[in-house]
Amino acid sequence: MGPTARRGRAEPSSRDCLPLLVVCLLLRTCEVKAAKASKPNILLIMADDLGIGDLGCYGNDTLRTPHIDWLAEEGVRLTQHLAAAPVCTPSRAAFLTGRHAFRSGMDTSGRTRVLPWNACSGGLPENETTFARILQQQGYSTGLIGKWHQGVNCHSRTDHCHHPLRHGFDYFYGMPLTLLSDCHPGWIGQVSSAMTPKLWHYTQLMALGVLTLAAGRTCGLVPVPRKAVTAAAGLVFLFFASWYTSFGFVRRWNCILMRNRDVVEQPMDLERTAGRLLEEAVAYIERCKPSS
Ligand SMILES: *[C@@H]1O[C@H](CO)[C@@H](O)[C@H](O)[C@H]1NC(C)=O
Ligand SMILES: *[C@@H]1O[C@H](CO)[C@@H](O)[C@H](O)[C@H]1NC(C)=O
Repeated sequence: MGPTARRGRAEPSSRDCLPLLVVCLLLRTCEVKAAKASKPNILLIMADDLGIGDLGCYGNDTLRTPHIDWLAEEGVRLTQHLAAAPVCTPSRAAFLTGRHAFRSGMDTSGRTRVLPWNACSGGLPENETTFARILQQQGYSTGLIGKWHQGVNCHSRTDHCHHPLRHGFDYFYGMPLTLLSDCHPGWIGQVSSAMTPKLWHYTQLMALGVLTLAAGRTCGLVPVPRKAVTAAAGLVFLFFASWYTSFGFVRRWNCILMRNRDVVEQPMDLERTAGRLLEEAVAYIERCKPSS
């Protein structure tokens, strides 16, 4: 986790898969829960945008990944894998459920294949079966440390209908959304740069409509009261002002850290995020370690 997370901070995120970030899915048999001592502990580490050629154990000699290489040396190194999608939301939905993301509504043919806001009402449906839920039913303690990006709420800010705790995890620490470039103060925001052209386009069309109406009225071609034209112009201005100013809040709205259902940092301090996730992951393993 360490080397990958450090690389994530140093590299500007690519336009397509929102930024690279490490997720650790930690599934441990806690002493309290593990009825049968024979059950293995399971630790899954998922990294966005990590190429097979980026790791030392797959032949990279410029990037040093000694810990991952060591895991590969002591275990099994697989050489064939197909990811279900090249971007975060659908690839994670497939990874968690073992089903193509379009079956759970977590993929789209539109341009933005990932959830762009924490406040989106979409997310992984509750009736999807995640491997975490299956393990939980088998008596495992299940923790997710890192990035979720499978939605949070349906109808209100606190219903948490898509939250990891509703999908078989007993513990969650991390970002409910992702690490966007909008989270870096001073960087060009991915969310704003993806959405502003369209919003500008709508604003211009609406303004053009109002101008046409005003011109038609002045020439006596369209019999509308002056107040109606003024009201329409006011609405266009309100529309513009509301979307334009809201991009100033993207960092506050999207870049947050949660512990279970509580927001613990808003906006998150990116300089410390990778370190916090690492500490949390280690602490989780320590907490769930059988004491014998
Ligand atoms: C190692 O990874 C870096 C970063 O992706 C890449 O630029 C470089 O070409 C890779 N080296 C090899 C030998 O694959
Ligand atoms: C979950 O519910 C939706 C809506 O009722 C349904 O379309 C979908 O097939 C269900 N998924 C599973 C895995 O049962």
